[in-house]
Amino acid sequence: MTTDGLEGINVSTEQRKPGYLQQSDAVRERFAKIRQREVILEVKQLGKTYHSTQGEVVALRDVNFSIHRRELVCVIGPSGCGKSTLIRMLAGLEPHTSGEVLLDGKPVDGPGSDRGMVFQGYTLFPWLTVKKNVMFGPEMNNRGKLEAERDALMWLDLVGLGKFADAYPHQLSGGMKQRVAIARALVNQPRILLMDEPFGALDAQTRTKMQTHLLDIWKNVDITILFITHDLDEAIFLADRILVLKAHPGEVQEFIEVPVPRPRYPGQSVSEEFLATKARLEELIHPPVQTNDADEVKPHMIRFTNVVDNVE
Ligand SMILES: Nc1ncnc2c1ncn2[C@@H]1O[C@H](COP(=O)(O)OP(=O)(O)OP(=O)(O)O)[C@@H](O)[C@H]1O
Ligand SMILES: [Mg+2]
Repeated sequence: MTTDGLEGINVSTEQRKPGYLQQSDAVRERFAKIRQREVILEVKQLGKTYHSTQGEVVALRDVNFSIHRRELVCVIGPSGCGKSTLIRMLAGLEPHTSGEVLLDGKPVDGPGSDRGMVFQGYTLFPWLTVKKNVMFGPEMNNRGKLEAERDALMWLDLVGLGKFADAYPHQLSGGMKQRVAIARALVNQPRILLMDEPFGALDAQTRTKMQTHLLDIWKNVDITILFITHDLDEAIFLADRILVLKAHPGEVQEFIEVPVPRPRYPGQSVSEEFLATKARLEELIHPPVQTNDADEVKPHMIRFTNVVDNVE
């Protein structure tokens, strides 16, 4: 405890920090334990420049971070800041221009079954049943048909779709399709699950259910997750830490430890820690607009010919 110069009032160092940096003892201990775990993913000085007919676009510059085993990290940032570029490079689907990506200490230089991907678009094969969709990866990796089928059914059970094994993708709702996509990624036993706005196309209610569902799955599986979203509530609800990127060029702005305790539940969204974290994210993603006259009608505005008024 340190005093603040105020007679009779003791203010701890923890209380002096801005709200989103204040952590309860349990949360602080949890982060200390996470930091002791092995590093699964290491991103060093990563950069990406696209060359197109419009010229060069520096999508990402000098991105550095690491993720520990079984951490759930969310990435947020304004549209176009390079989130999808980052995840595609981690997946090995896009070459990087500079720096390196290490998974379990080994450089990533192409796609591999050690990384599972789930995208926003529904990417199931429409001509295959749910079970066959999930079996596809193991069969490609030469696991026997029986083993592939057993594993597919186990993962479908885990995502709550055991009864839909023989259905076709068009018979499923959006949320169910994404659950199959998660099963299809996990059946290959990846080291990390890379998710690019996987719930972005779902309605608000289904989205909330899927978030809880993902946490339930994560609770039972030794898997590290990198999850991209533009939804601040989703990021705070899911993440251990949130990587905030800024745009043009995409750079790391801050890597925030979420002070909201686990287990998470929707009611926490009105807790002090949650709101303080959200306020910080808002500040980083949507800095305050300088002008206060945005609602006025100005002479230089484009005006429609059917509008008659006396603005000078
Ligand atoms: N294939 C490409 N060729 C040229 N430029 C590209 C290409 N892909 C992305 N870019 C540019 O790189 C930058 C980052 O794009 P990216 O899709 O990674 O952003 P994002 O953060 O995922 O955006 P959003 O939130 O809208 O999904 C943008 O300026 C985009 O125009
Ligand atoms: Mg994107």
